[in-house]
Amino acid sequence: MKTFSAVPDMRSEVRTQKARGKTVGLVPTMGYLHEGHLSLIRGSIRQMDYTVASVFVNPAQFAPNEDLQQYPRDMKRDSDLLEKEGVNSLFAPGDDQMYPQGFGTYVEVVDMQHKLCGRSRPAHFRGVCTVVLKLFNIIEPDAAFFGQKDAQQAIIIRKMVRDLNLDVKIEVMPIVRDEQGLALSSRNAYLSPELKKQALSLSASLKEAQNMIESGERTAEKIIRRMKKIIGSEPSARIDYVEVVDTDNLDPLKKIDDQALIAVAVFFEKVRLIDNFMFESKEKKQ
Ligand code: PAF
Repeated sequence: MKTFSAVPDMRSEVRTQKARGKTVGLVPTMGYLHEGHLSLIRGSIRQMDYTVASVFVNPAQFAPNEDLQQYPRDMKRDSDLLEKEGVNSLFAPGDDQMYPQGFGTYVEVVDMQHKLCGRSRPAHFRGVCTVVLKLFNIIEPDAAFFGQKDAQQAIIIRKMVRDLNLDVKIEVMPIVRDEQGLALSSRNAYLSPELKKQALSLSASLKEAQNMIESGERTAEKIIRRMKKIIGSEPSARIDYVEVVDTDNLDPLKKIDDQALIAVAVFFEKVRLIDNFMFESKEKKQ
């Protein structure tokens, strides 16, 4: 595996590979890799000729009161894992490469960036879209791989790609969970064993929502009420949101028809976790 930190070197490597006729897959990450990231890497390696993984803790997507400084980092371990998976190149730029002195251009998906997570993290998706577009411009991938766990992020990035006519296919891979059902996240590293136990209420509430929908319940309010009861019974849980929204525009749904995103964000003490379940009726799947 080759490692690049400078934009021109990374760009020239990818262009060489493309000139050889190789298709290029990009897996953007903020590092501290877990099985969820590795499933994206494996997806890219399966589908593409050449895989680039990026590791960059993007300051633009953190608010001043958030965990940028504490965000877990371990470049040596990440690099070893990526090499073992068979990644071709690691792009690990410094802040000065991505946000040089005088940087002042941002990308906003205006109609969706303030919904769901965007309400409590108003500048988050602007930071995500800006860094993802920069990575797309540097690496010029044919396809980029994202996780369903960050459902709003994936929907917003798809919208950015459509709106800005970007020539990159967005692949969204299923949520990876631990044996007990907790969705994998680098932020799980902050959880004490007790908080981890309480955090299982997220997947439990989503499972209950799925059961309710599959048994014919279609009223969003009833589903949300039941989910809030399950999560709210944990002493350290502080609900940011529990919502049932349209999968295209993230608008709240009153009644579920043939598709819905059921999404939750909850603080366990200072740790904010998200999880979701995407419902599609049998008719819609066909
Ligand atoms: O999902 C993440 O880890 C980040 O939001 C991403 C896409 C790498 C952009 O910094």
